[in-house]
Amino acid sequence: MSSSMTLTNHTAPNTKHVIPPSVFTLRRTAQLEALYTIIRNKDTSRGDFIFYSDRIIRLLVEEGLNHLPVVPKVVETPTGAQYDGVGFEGKICGVSILRAGEAMEQGLREVCRSVRIGKILIQRDEDTTLPKLFYSKLPQDIAQRYVLLLDPMLATGGSAMKAVEVITEHGVAEDRIVFINLISSPQGLKTFSTRYPAVKVITGWIDEGLNDRAYIVPGLGDFGERRYCA
Ligand code: URA
Repeated sequence: MSSSMTLTNHTAPNTKHVIPPSVFTLRRTAQLEALYTIIRNKDTSRGDFIFYSDRIIRLLVEEGLNHLPVVPKVVETPTGAQYDGVGFEGKICGVSILRAGEAMEQGLREVCRSVRIGKILIQRDEDTTLPKLFYSKLPQDIAQRYVLLLDPMLATGGSAMKAVEVITEHGVAEDRIVFINLISSPQGLKTFSTRYPAVKVITGWIDEGLNDRAYIVPGLGDFGERRYCA
């Protein structure tokens, strides 16, 4: 199930927090750390932010695909020999949480040609302060698909949990959802994984925590601002 690229059931290296069993992180290579150093730097240009965050997104999507089930598949090679391989068990789709999650769509498309991608817009309800669904457009056959849920920053976990609620209301089983993000807070991971233990979370990095404005620290600031605003 998990590949050699994954670590799990460890204490997050820079925190005292234990990683829930449904959470998988990318292996902390020097290269990965260098990519994160670039996107965290407040002086990084928008162009470089896009380029290097795209590199991380690509790694995350590839890792997410490692968690989808495969079945035996036999093919014949051009030499006439038989090869006993595997193929993906089912169809997949992406669902991005707007607006920052849209930035991860291209990374998914590069790896999964012609993949269907749905969208969910969740914002804070000013009356209740709770996350509220404003818009959703999901593939009509989503219940028959595995879902890669895309949102770059897992802060409190509120939007991600609302998104999973919407997706499961459309008939998708929790264990067919893989949530992919670049940076998580330990609090967000704990809240999310306690509520949805069957949803796998693939995160690139687990940070120290949240500040009083619910931004991840050290974090990278507002992902959408850095990606979309010059
Ligand atoms: N969303 C962001 O863009 N950044 C954070 O730190 C938290 C949520």
